[in-house]
Amino acid sequence: MFHVTVKDTYDEVSKAAFSVMKSVLYGDHAPVLGLATGSSPVGLYKEMIRDHQENGTSYQDILTFNLDEYIGLPRDHRESYWTFMHVNLFNHIDIPDENVHVPLGCGENPEADCAAYEAELAKHVVDVQVLGIGSDGHIAFNEPGCPFDSVTHLMDLTEQTRRDNARFFDGDINQVPTKAATMGLASIMRAKKIIMIATGSNKADAIRGMMEGPKTVDCPASILQDHPEVYVFLDREAASKLSK
Ligand code: F6R
Repeated sequence: MFHVTVKDTYDEVSKAAFSVMKSVLYGDHAPVLGLATGSSPVGLYKEMIRDHQENGTSYQDILTFNLDEYIGLPRDHRESYWTFMHVNLFNHIDIPDENVHVPLGCGENPEADCAAYEAELAKHVVDVQVLGIGSDGHIAFNEPGCPFDSVTHLMDLTEQTRRDNARFFDGDINQVPTKAATMGLASIMRAKKIIMIATGSNKADAIRGMMEGPKTVDCPASILQDHPEVYVFLDREAASKLSK
């Protein structure tokens, strides 16, 4: 079930998304958060940092699980998702390091590392999962064709995704890793609530596919049509191809 909010600016989208995050953070137990990287959730993370600083919301007992990580980048690489999360959120809140989980992209046996990540994730219930969407309809790094019953696994990135992400690698697609470790679609669907954030006209087709297209592995995000509680936060451009 989709609950859709459309706002004029990225700032307003981020603040609206924070209202769902806040209800989870201020709930009756220390939650487990599923987190995403990329441009879409940065404004939400700024709101979380502001709330931590102004209202003292503590992350001491909160666990986090990130969606994905590039294969082949050391954790301290400036574009690893480990670094991204520390720069954009973890370094600014009081979360203990041992509460943070990001898939390992630089181990000697990436498949075993994926299995270990899934096993750890399966011990918990994610209260809210933050998602962005790829222009090709991917969620996490589950690219078109990825089975709906997938759990944490290795994925070859599509050329479109590598082109989209080249902006983080000096605009050079050749520097963008070709593979990622990613939570699977079935792993994501276990979360109790989902926050989807998408802005910009390059997301309009993917958002239409997610909400109004057929449920198909060609648009991995369309699996969310089966989720009971998805909060979708869009700007007008990202919403521009929706029929209603
Ligand atoms: C990142 C992730 C990806 C991004 C998607 C959109 O952890 O899982 O699915 O959410 O590629 O990226 P942005 O937000 O940079 O447009």
